[in-house]
Amino acid sequence: MTGRISREFIDELLVRVDIVDLIDSRVPLKKTGSNYVARCPFHTEKSPSFSVNRNKQFFHCFGCGASGNAISFLMDFGHLSFVEAVEDLAAFAGVAVQMDLAGKEHIKSAEQSLKKLYLLMEQVAGYYVDELRKNASAINYLKSRQVKGEVARDFLLGYAPDKWDGLASQFDQKLLIDAGMLVVKDDGKVYDRFRNRIMYPIRDKRSRIVGFGGRVLDDSLPKYLNSPETPLFHKGKEVYGLYELLAKNPKPQRILIVEGYMDVIALAQYGINYSVAALGTAASHAHLDLLFRFASELVFCFDGDKAGREAAWKAMDAMFSSLKDGRSCRIMLLPEQHDPDSLIRSEGVDSFIDRVESAQVLSDYFYEHVSRGLNLNEMEARAQLIAKVKPYIEKLQESTFKELMSARLKDLSGVKKVAALENIKFNKELSNRKSIGQEINRLSSSRVAIALLLQNPGLAYLVEKLEIDWAGIEFGGVNLFKDIQRLILEKKILNSAVLLEYYRDLPEEKVVKALAVLDLHVEEDKIDDVFSDALNGLLKQAREVEIMRLQVKAQKEGLNNEEQALLVDMLVGK
Ligand code: UTP
Ligand code: MN
Repeated sequence: MTGRISREFIDELLVRVDIVDLIDSRVPLKKTGSNYVARCPFHTEKSPSFSVNRNKQFFHCFGCGASGNAISFLMDFGHLSFVEAVEDLAAFAGVAVQMDLAGKEHIKSAEQSLKKLYLLMEQVAGYYVDELRKNASAINYLKSRQVKGEVARDFLLGYAPDKWDGLASQFDQKLLIDAGMLVVKDDGKVYDRFRNRIMYPIRDKRSRIVGFGGRVLDDSLPKYLNSPETPLFHKGKEVYGLYELLAKNPKPQRILIVEGYMDVIALAQYGINYSVAALGTAASHAHLDLLFRFASELVFCFDGDKAGREAAWKAMDAMFSSLKDGRSCRIMLLPEQHDPDSLIRSEGVDSFIDRVESAQVLSDYFYEHVSRGLNLNEMEARAQLIAKVKPYIEKLQESTFKELMSARLKDLSGVKKVAALENIKFNKELSNRKSIGQEINRLSSSRVAIALLLQNPGLAYLVEKLEIDWAGIEFGGVNLFKDIQRLILEKKILNSAVLLEYYRDLPEEKVVKALAVLDLHVEEDKIDDVFSDALNGLLKQAREVEIMRLQVKAQKEGLNNEEQALLVDMLVGK
């Protein structure tokens, strides 16, 4: 998606918008010194550690580590995708989003055909709703399941009549095929995919209908049919009920993940309007990332039987990949023979809410599960425990949670140094943040140089004046340094936020962001000097290392012409 919006447009937009105004319009800021501060919108805190810097055009929270430019702010604050954030930012600046010229036409026609499909789905849903009104057995079925009219309306429930050409006789056949609503036989003949079924439209978070689920009215099989994968519908990415949830509950404290359509509907009917269902698949990493955009706590509901516990264990992969500080998962096992639909009807809403609130946190559930049946007095069992747990801990992002999970493993196994965990690097930067200012001397020159360059892109012109010969120069981060330098000159960047944008989703993004907010406590008029010193120190050191390498090589195996010239240049200090 990122390739579609013109890069130059994003650069211009970031220069045009003042991040202070943007954030102030969402989170009122107070000026202190050269920064603007507020209580952090991304975590709960009493005193403000969220600060916005007008010169650098980015924000940083010393408390939770959140940081980024105006686009990142909108993505995090508004739970938006990159493209949505750029669109919002453009709207804030009062300009229209510009697309890349190449591909513009192509995108336009693709968008046109998607629009047609969305419209069709809307019309098909309306048709099913009309059909439901006309069909007594479908209405009776919903009554037998105690579905109230109001909920049926909220969820746009409908009925697909028992006809082979119910849709085909009403709508454009080609569009119906593209939308997955017709089945195409080998001989090219087509018929309605959904017949004599209660229809559940699946809406994306922007309320567009992307697919349908359909349930039989009796015991015949298959009980449920879902739309196939289409340009609109990707099962691994959509969840059922999210739109309906957000419509009632834009900022849910938690989201409950259940298995079935009817579970979501029954819960909503009892006022629990914060549940969604993965569509007949296990919740994926993409599902969880989507849901974590809206709530910081996800509660997973599973049947209490063996299959349910197995499903819970399968979901661990996705949970561990999505977790980071500030997010949590809980596991709720239901009594056997119950799903949320039947349970809430039999025991009532209060007991159900009690169950949700007392659901076990992931860490407890996980360690209980992995140590079940192991006698941890035995060395073999402890080794087995480590082997089981390690792959999961490795999936976790660097976070305090990861540290705590590792610490628990060390406690349980009695092994203080689990070799397998030693190469997990913890983010010391956050916990040490206060002393960083004083630690400038202990920071490597390369970090200082890169951080200053990122924070003051104008320094690239100073580097250019030095006419550095980079041949043979190696130091930690040299490639990143040269890359940033090149970007600034090539794209004429004078703004840190724009620079940061070029690293979005690249492997270097994390380190670039960390260095961009590193507080070096260098006074404005000393920046050039500190930077030159750091850079010269680096170059000198790198030259010495290279000279040594070449001298050793000269003795051992001799140098080629190029290497000889380089050595001479370096010795005379060119
Ligand atoms: P269940 O079989 O547990 O059904 O499937 P349910 O949700 O309790 O349905 P009711 O209460 O009998 O109406 C759980 C979910 O698995 C998917 C559906 O999403 C269903 O809601 N499923 C199930 C299918 O996709 N196809 C099937 O044939 C069955
Ligand atoms: Mn059920």
